Amino acid sequence: MRDKANIVVIGTGGTIAGRGETSANTSAYACSVLTIDEILAAMPDVSSLANLRTEQLLQTGSENFDNEHLLKIGRRVSHVLKDDEVDGVVLTHGTDTLEETAYFLHLTLKSLKPVVVVGAMRPPSAMSSDAALNLYGAIAVAAHRSSWARGTLVVANDEIHTARDVMKRHSFKLEAFCSPYGPLGYVVEGQPRFYRLPLRDHTVATQWTIDDMTELAKVDIVFGYGALDGAAMAASSSNTQALIYAGTGNGNVSQGIVARLVEAARNGVHVVRASRTGNGVVVRNGAQPDDDYGWLVVDDQPPQKARILLMLAMLSAQDDRGALQAAFYRY
Ligand code: SIN
Repeated sequence: MRDKANIVVIGTGGTIAGRGETSANTSAYACSVLTIDEILAAMPDVSSLANLRTEQLLQTGSENFDNEHLLKIGRRVSHVLKDDEVDGVVLTHGTDTLEETAYFLHLTLKSLKPVVVVGAMRPPSAMSSDAALNLYGAIAVAAHRSSWARGTLVVANDEIHTARDVMKRHSFKLEAFCSPYGPLGYVVEGQPRFYRLPLRDHTVATQWTIDDMTELAKVDIVFGYGALDGAAMAASSSNTQALIYAGTGNGNVSQGIVARLVEAARNGVHVVRASRTGNGVVVRNGAQPDDDYGWLVVDDQPPQKARILLMLAMLSAQDDRGALQAAFYRY
């Protein structure tokens, strides 16, 4: 074990790399303008935590991240982790889709080394910005031995979350990130303190390896509401291989849509009932006869995480609906 861990900090843009015209611009600013080196240059104390090496992989808002971006980030992080001189990786990322990238890494990296994804709700230029403290905490977590074998972690607002559970649940407040079962731990004075472990399989225990992936399936999400009609649904899910239906409550599907989704499943499109509430489980064969319709349900995964998981599950079990359903209960 080295005296100080060697951590690679990979920048991809987002608010953590943003700059406002004045310090009062906490929510309106230019995103993805500071390089990772510029962000770190304003944090002199960080060098006491670890030996840092930086890379600028992307420089864009995470609302733009598509499947190619996910694959690119995953491959790069995997490559960096294979270096024996590297003890961990911190990925700076926009907060909007941070939970999706983190979950993707959590399920596809084959390493026990810490990987911490981090963003900020306010740019470094803003009053009471969370950028420096979040990044400091992320590096502290990545550099610490107790963070090994935990899967991909997310640090925000002094909390350490598992990538499986964490979600952005507020559009502008500093305490935007939360996990339905609580964080795994805290960052206190530059030290991680863990109180819980992620229980579901991740990283080395999954069947997916980022290095083998060249393409991901097209999986769309449809947001359910009572007046949703077939035309609106078709417009938000054309040529798709699978569809996550973010239904109301316990994955409920409005009457006018049921026949469309039954037909889609008969035509080979995987249909997954999820809940737009973002919390709780969807009960199989509860509100709808999923067995009869050939539909799947999420366990407790919110629609955006269900999409990531299904894209991966389809790599190993393309048309096997039993195996796809099992993936929701395993991961
Ligand atoms: C983004 O996700 O890139 C923009 C918003 C943010 O980082 O907070």
